[in-house]
Order: sequence, then C-alpha cells, then structure tokens
Amino acid sequence: MNENPIGIFDSGVGGTSIFKEIHALLPYENIIYLADSKNAPYGNKSQQDILNLSIKNTEYLLAQGCKIIVVACNTATTNAISYLRETYNVPFIGIEPAIKPAALNTKTKAVGILATKGTLSSTLFHKTSDLYTNGIKLVEQVGEGIVPLIESGQLYSEEMKGLLQMYLEPMLKANIDYLVLGCTHYPYLIPILETMLPKEVKIIDSGLAVAKQTKAILLEKKILNSEVKKPSVNLFSNGNVEVLNAILKNKFNTAYLDF
Ligand code: DGL
Repeated sequence: MNENPIGIFDSGVGGTSIFKEIHALLPYENIIYLADSKNAPYGNKSQQDILNLSIKNTEYLLAQGCKIIVVACNTATTNAISYLRETYNVPFIGIEPAIKPAALNTKTKAVGILATKGTLSSTLFHKTSDLYTNGIKLVEQVGEGIVPLIESGQLYSEEMKGLLQMYLEPMLKANIDYLVLGCTHYPYLIPILETMLPKEVKIIDSGLAVAKQTKAILLEKKILNSEVKKPSVNLFSNGNVEVLNAILKNKFNTAYLDF
C-alpha cells in the first residue's frame, strides 16, 4: 500500500501548482496527475456536472491503486469533496480559498478573492467565509475567462492582462491588502499580478498548505512511502499535452490519456 501512488486531479493544468508542492515535499512518492482539460473549465458547470466529473477522475485514480486522492481544484473540492469522502474508502485532501489567514492578518480590513463561479457560489465557501470575515470587506470576483486562456497556453497574453486589470479594479478601490487566489490555475498568474498590484498587497495561495496536509495524513494513516528511490511520476492530460508540458517547463513525464 505505501508504495501505491498519490492521485491528484484538476479540471486541467492548474492543479500542477499543487502537484509541484507535493512532489517537492514528498520526493519519494509515486504520483499520478490527471488534467481533465477536455472538460475545463469546471467553474461554470452545475454542481451535478462538477460532481460527476470528480467521480470519473476519482474512479480512474482508484483503479490505478491510488492510496490517497488530492482534489487539486477549489471548484471540485467545494462542490464534491463531501460526497467523495462519504463514498470512497481512501483519504481525500482538498483545497479551499485561504480566506482565514487573509482575514486574520488584514490591516485595511479589506480582502480580495478571485475564484471561479462554482467556488464562490458553493455552500462550503460561504460557510468558511462567514466564519472569518465578520467586520471585513470581502471583495469577491469571479475570474471569468481566465482558466480557458491558461488552458490554451495564453498565460501572458494582452487579453489576460485586460481581464486581470478589470477584476482587480474594484479590489484596489476597496483598498485590499490581501488577494486570495481561490483557483489552482491562478498561482501561474502571480508574476503578472505582482506587476499590477501595489507592493503592499500580499497574494495568498494554498499550495504549500495542501502539500503539508497531504504529508500529515500519509503519516497519520501510516501510508507514507519509506522507499528512498526515484519515484514514478506521471502526468496525463485528455486535452493538449503541449500546454501541460509548457506549464511544467518540460520537466516531468507527461502523456495524452483518454480518461
Ligand atoms: N483549477 C480549478 C479550481 O481550482 C478549476 C478552474 C475551472 O476549471 O474552472 O477551481
């Protein structure tokens, strides 16, 4: 069991921001990553569709013997993780927008959050934000159009800059000092965001926290891989593998897979 892979999935290439943190923290773990790019974006789909896609990805990973599943997608976590945990007999790690650290540390009492429609409209997101944002202005913004641009390899396009400018404007007007990235695709935008935001605004993403939580659960369940040898790490896309390779700077094994 301990040598079985960690399974990770996302609606596309964005969850590789989580994959990289997990691989760096747990360098001897075997890993299978699924980029469901064919069905991206998940963010505008109904909760039922997001659930069905999450089930499809989970069942594929379980059929490969995965010992734990990381839902490297805020949209899938906030809409499907309770069902997945109730239904399948492996631990699930999810990712949710990191509202808590932003809300606890903001000095201007204004926090921006950029996420998908599916995440911002989910019950789980509302529960978390209600818990921590008393007395804080939370400027919520749906990142409409961002994921399709990343999925088509247009990270640094003018269109991307235009969208970001439009989405940041109400946040800057509200004088935010924290911007929470509520979608695993968005950490790839940090270099662009840093050129557009005043330097007082801190950007929060939860990749490292998810990796640490994955390690903690593997330790707790006693399923950490104790073998110290080069692991098998494979990333699969059911869309354009070149986009996956570009985002990973060609550093990992990738392949097309129809799942
Ligand atoms: N990467 C995703 C997330 O964290 C999903 C984006 C999408 O497919 O809309 O929410």
